[in-house]
Amino acid sequence: MVDFEGKVYVAPLTTVGNLPFRRIMKDLGADITCGEMALGQNLLKGQASEWALLKRHACEDVFGVQVAGGHPDQMTRVAELIRNEASVDFVDINMGCPIDLVCKQGMGSALMNKQRKVRGILMGMTSILEVPVTVKMRVGWDDKTPTAHKIIPMIQNFSGKGVCAVMIHGRSRLQRYTKSADWNYIREAAASEQSWLRPLPVIGNGDIMSWQDHKQHLDEGGKNMSTCAMVGRGALIKPWLPTEIKEKRDWDISATERLDILKKFVSYGIEHWGSDQLGVNRTRRFLLEWLSFTCRYIPAAILEVLPQRLNERPPPFFGRSDLETLLSSQNCADWIKISEMLLGPVPEGFQFEPKHKSNSYAPSVSRGLAGVEDETEPIQNW
Ligand SMILES: Cc1cc2nc3c(=O)[nH]c(=O)nc-3n(C[C@H](O)[C@H](O)[C@H](O)COP(=O)(O)O)c2cc1C
Repeated sequence: MVDFEGKVYVAPLTTVGNLPFRRIMKDLGADITCGEMALGQNLLKGQASEWALLKRHACEDVFGVQVAGGHPDQMTRVAELIRNEASVDFVDINMGCPIDLVCKQGMGSALMNKQRKVRGILMGMTSILEVPVTVKMRVGWDDKTPTAHKIIPMIQNFSGKGVCAVMIHGRSRLQRYTKSADWNYIREAAASEQSWLRPLPVIGNGDIMSWQDHKQHLDEGGKNMSTCAMVGRGALIKPWLPTEIKEKRDWDISATERLDILKKFVSYGIEHWGSDQLGVNRTRRFLLEWLSFTCRYIPAAILEVLPQRLNERPPPFFGRSDLETLLSSQNCADWIKISEMLLGPVPEGFQFEPKHKSNSYAPSVSRGLAGVEDETEPIQNW
């Protein structure tokens, strides 16, 4: 069994949660890491790019992989392959992916409406795997009719028989990132567990960007609620977040220290993707994707009220140095400039468009400034 209690767990993050990024997370205090979502059907076809998503680095001492699939027989075969071919500590079933392409095939969030399929998947996978299974879900398909509280009692039947935790991202499939995560509902869903069965820890997820956010959730407690801090975008924006959570402090990190983290990422990237032109290009692409998140950080010393909240849109500001101002730029051309500082000049005609429009904010919670919804290309709408 994997013990998530009191740990910092970095959520699976497609594209940006790559192996070099996860190494940075480990350096900065994360306890548990997970690979990016892999599609079961592609794993079964033996697609090398999909199998690469299951690769673990030696520093990832508690490491899970996440798979998406809609059919019990298919997921059981996937489990068999993972058992034979991969080195993992747990296997997470994706029940939250909102992407149309995925949901239309009955995977991801679509599974939240198919209890029988989920039961079949759990029966198949837990009977094959020697490592525990976890399930990551949303509150449901839409927030008006949340279903997590109906599925959890069924999943609880597998508690201690292979399933060791459930993670709930406190938004619905249709909500995407337009509202704050609903932690009240997460607690309700956790409390829906049956009292005569072994409890299953429920790990809440959504909008944790500071140790204070995590502490608030701990203080609010709740039956069957885990004390694990599961972080997603907060860790992308502030990669030192795991340290802050563990040490319960606001780290007023300097711009040079932030650049050092990026430098380290680049060296891990080259080590992972290769030092030839292809490897450098890949490292640059993934660095740029990440920079589209890191630019959202507002230095602690500049902020009037600590802590920074995930969905607050900061007014433009000047940093304490040119480098700090550059690191806060929301302009793609500046991200390219930062990549050039670390990897040399880009080829002529180089263009970059981030996959995730992370520099957008939920209108309902932005501080009086017109927000843009986090609704962009369908493939990126996590
Ligand atoms: C860029 C990005 C990629 C994501 N990729 C995945 C994924 O592969 N699998 C998954 O279950 N969730 C994925 N998510 C959702 C996160 O794991 C997490 O549940 C969500 O972002 C809420 O946490 P947060 O508010 O702390 O970011 C992704 C989120 C983002 C922003």
